[in-house]
Amino acid sequence: MERIRLHDKYFKTLIPADEIQKHIALLAEKLNNDLKNEEKVLFISVLNGSFMFTSDLLKHIKVDCELAFVKLTSYHGAKSSGKVDNVMGLNTSIKGRSIVILEDIVDTGLTIQTLNELLLMQQPKSVKICTFLFKPDCYKGSLPVDYACMTIGADFVVGYGLDYDQLGRQLPDLYVLDE
Ligand code: XMP
Ligand code: MG
Repeated sequence: MERIRLHDKYFKTLIPADEIQKHIALLAEKLNNDLKNEEKVLFISVLNGSFMFTSDLLKHIKVDCELAFVKLTSYHGAKSSGKVDNVMGLNTSIKGRSIVILEDIVDTGLTIQTLNELLLMQQPKSVKICTFLFKPDCYKGSLPVDYACMTIGADFVVGYGLDYDQLGRQLPDLYVLDE
């Protein structure tokens, strides 16, 4: 178990890279099957946290698809601020499109709830939620989380795209706060 330091906090390995990759391959298999009859799926990846998940997952996707990146922030430091900003960077029309949102983590669910509402205003055919991590113990939302690559506890995690005050995104393993 590797212990690392980011800013003032220590973290220990929670999920090693090879295990993450196995789960991503399984998730991709499910998506390839579920999306096979959809016309040109549009994956909407939520920056910054989901860049690594998006990159690794899409290498396994075999259906025709397009990729868009959006930005929308709701999290500062180690505690959710609860404030969600607007979607930035979505220049493509999504009317009538089959959308799959790619998120790094679903915690309270506020972020995906807001993003989902903003996207639905543009009348897509469907919006599915696909997240790398899901914290069911923290979830307060009513939307179904259609695809969760991995489920974790309530503790704060970093690595594999996720940051602690902007540090740790490049780590290939997932780490959890070690107190
Ligand atoms: P909500 O509560 O809206 O939160 O579902 C989703 C966003 O909060 C961030 N988040 C985390 N970031 N480690 C992180 O690095 C965590 O454990 C964590 N929990 C939530 C994340 O940006 C996500 O998009
Ligand atoms: Mg995020």
